[in-house]
Amino acid sequence: MTRPRILATRRWPKAVEQKLAELFELTLNAADVPLSEADLRDAMGQYDAILPTVTDRLPAAVFDGSAARTRILANYGVGYAHIDTEAAKARGITVTNTPDVLSECTADIAMTLMLMVARRAGEGERELRDRRWTGWRPTHLIGTKVSGATLGIIGFGRIGQAMAQRAHFGFGMKIVVQNRSAVPAEVLARYNAVQVPTIDDILPQCDFVSLHCPGGAANRHLINAQRLDLMRPGAFLINTARGEVVDELALAQALWFGTIGGAGLDVFEREPSIPPELLGADNLVMLPHLGSATRETREAMGFRVLENLDAFFEGRAPRDRVA
Ligand code: DGY
Repeated sequence: MTRPRILATRRWPKAVEQKLAELFELTLNAADVPLSEADLRDAMGQYDAILPTVTDRLPAAVFDGSAARTRILANYGVGYAHIDTEAAKARGITVTNTPDVLSECTADIAMTLMLMVARRAGEGERELRDRRWTGWRPTHLIGTKVSGATLGIIGFGRIGQAMAQRAHFGFGMKIVVQNRSAVPAEVLARYNAVQVPTIDDILPQCDFVSLHCPGGAANRHLINAQRLDLMRPGAFLINTARGEVVDELALAQALWFGTIGGAGLDVFEREPSIPPELLGADNLVMLPHLGSATRETREAMGFRVLENLDAFFEGRAPRDRVA
C-alpha cells in the first residue's frame, strides 16, 4: 500500500521526524526557512498532507491551484489564524491544530515576562553586561511588586486558565477575566476569579493585563491607543497570544510617554521584524516567540500532529479538527 506523501514545512524535533518518516513518505524542508505562498500553492498539488507552522501564510490564494492533492493541513501549533480555514473548508480540506500540550509552557513564558518587566530584570541584566553596575543601593532599579496584585486575563481558555493557576496559587494574585463567552461558575471559582463583560471594563481594574485570546482579523489591534489609555498608570501589558492583537506603534507611544508601566512581548505583528520604536524602550521585555519552546512541549506538539494524521488517514475523525 502506498504511504501518504506529507510535507513538514520546517524542521521538527528529531524524535517526531523519525516517527513521521516511519509512517509516511516524508519530505522535510532541509533549509528550514519559511516557504513562500508560491511554494505552498505548489505543494498543494504534490502532497496528501501539509504540516504548516505559524511562519507559513496560507491565504485563499494558496488554495486556488487547479490540481489540489492536499486533503489535510495538520498545523504544528495551537494558533491557526495564518490559515484561511474558510478557503480550506470550501475545498474539503481538513485543518487540525495542537491544543492542550503547550498551555503550561506558554503560561510559564507569560509569567516570565510579567516578572521580568515588573522587576526590571532586562534592564538589570543589560546594566551588568555593559559593566555599568556600581553596586547595591536602596534606590537602585526599583520595580513593582507582583505578589497580591490584580491580574486581568483576556481570553480565558486553556492557556488563560494555566496563567490564572500560576498567578493565583503561586503569587496570590486577584484574577479578573474577560472572555467572549460566559466562563462556567466552577471554573471561575477555582481561581476565585471574577468575569467582566468587556475589555473596556477589565483594563482600568488591573495592575497587569495578560492576553490569551486568538489572533486573526477579528482581534487585530484589540489593544489600541484608546484601550492603552484605559489601563492604570504604571500597569503592565503582557502578550504571548499573537502579535496582531496589539497595535505596536500605539504601545511604543504608551511606553515612551510612560502612560503605562511597561510591557512584555513574546509575539509580534510582523515576525521576525520588530518595529524600531519598540527596540529602544527600556520598560519593555521582548522574547523571540518562545511560548512553547521546551523540548517536552515541542515534541508533544509533534506527536499530537502525528495522532491527527494517523486518525485522518485511517478514516477516523482527527481529535483536533478545527475546520
Ligand atoms: C502556537 O502554538 O500557536 C505557537 O504560538 C506557535 O505557533
